Amino acid sequence: MASPVLEQVHAALATVNDPEIRKPITELGMVESVELDAAGKVVLTVLLTVSGCPLKDTITRDVTAAVTSVAGVTDVDLTLGVMSDEQRAGLQQTLRGGQTQREIPFARSDSLTKVYAVASGKGGVGKSSVTVNLAVAMAHQGLKVGLVDADVYGHSVPAMLGVGDVRPTQVEEMIMPVPTPGGISVISIGMLKPRRDQVVAWRGPMLDRALVQMLSDVYWGDLDVLFLDLPPGTGDIAISLGQHLPNAEVLVVTTPQEAAAEVAERAGTMASMMHQRVVGVVENMSFLPCPHCGPDHRLEVFGSGGGARVAATLSARFGYDVPVLGEIPLDLDLRAGGDSGTPIVESSPGSPSATQLTQIAGTLSGRGRGLAGMQLGLTPAGKF
Ligand SMILES: Nc1ncnc2c1ncn2[C@@H]1O[C@H](COP(=O)(O)OP(=O)(O)OP(=O)(O)O)[C@@H](O)[C@H]1O
Ligand SMILES: [Mg+2]
Ligand SMILES: [Zn+2]
Repeated sequence: MASPVLEQVHAALATVNDPEIRKPITELGMVESVELDAAGKVVLTVLLTVSGCPLKDTITRDVTAAVTSVAGVTDVDLTLGVMSDEQRAGLQQTLRGGQTQREIPFARSDSLTKVYAVASGKGGVGKSSVTVNLAVAMAHQGLKVGLVDADVYGHSVPAMLGVGDVRPTQVEEMIMPVPTPGGISVISIGMLKPRRDQVVAWRGPMLDRALVQMLSDVYWGDLDVLFLDLPPGTGDIAISLGQHLPNAEVLVVTTPQEAAAEVAERAGTMASMMHQRVVGVVENMSFLPCPHCGPDHRLEVFGSGGGARVAATLSARFGYDVPVLGEIPLDLDLRAGGDSGTPIVESSPGSPSATQLTQIAGTLSGRGRGLAGMQLGLTPAGKF
């Protein structure tokens, strides 16, 4: 019979998740051997999925901490190995749940993941900033969140999340999403380029393939929420998305001054093309809190009312309520947070912009996961 201490070591190891796959290492075949000697020293070998795994330090730290926490363990001798091709193929099988066909898990009728596609009429309105902050805020609210950067012009999302230089790990044909310090998983269309300095003109079928790859070849695991940062405007990606993820909902980001009718028109066209519901409008760069009088005096740098106008136009057009979910002020720290890779909801959660973003995230989280949302997705998309 195994010693009680060894049993507890096994139990402790079962609490350690692989940071990319987010499942216990014991279930992934990563713990190759564990032994306990008479002096209380644990000698174990843990297999990484690939050599040079960027997260080996995290795994080392977590395994060591878990094993050390067991009463009776005096020392830990951890060896890191690498899975064989056979072991990796087995892992891929496990992750795919035995299913061999590639499919998009979020498109299944029994999927419980809420999918939010973030769109805007034009570029530079802060779509990516809003997306990363909402994603991180929702992760802080306890949800498992994934983010697909599908903006072919931008790919600014990884840098905004502090993982600008990280390349994803590949296990056989599966790509592991990159975990970020803020606790979400991200894949960017820029990460799929064979070489970083390569210039790729993403369009049409190639773009479609890239989108499908980010949704089906990436191991997302069991997510509560998936965000997609779309390119500005309408285009190929909107059509692809409509075909592959018809139950996605659309979040429109706008600034106060944009010709409201034009933006509403574009967002509306896209939503109707995709038979997707518009869940709400976020107005960004709404105002600058007056440096002299404080936030009650709003300097309307970019005009005012754009978000409300878009929401009203879309509500009238679709025949259901499209609310303004929040108005995010101009905030130098928000920009600085994007540049330094720490979203403002983390670096300065009490600031007015972070408060708004966290509140919007709460509204979206509160819509709950799964079937209730799915019914919304199935509601007739209204009159066009
Ligand atoms: N509320 C804000 N206050 C201050 N700066 C902001 C705010 N929102 C966004 N920014 C800044 O504006 C710039 C554009 O934002 P962002 O990249 O998020 O926009 P985008 O709509 O995704 O743009 P693109 O079309 O280039 O992808 C960034 O430098 C960002 O830090
Ligand atoms: Mg962007
Ligand atoms: Zn003032």
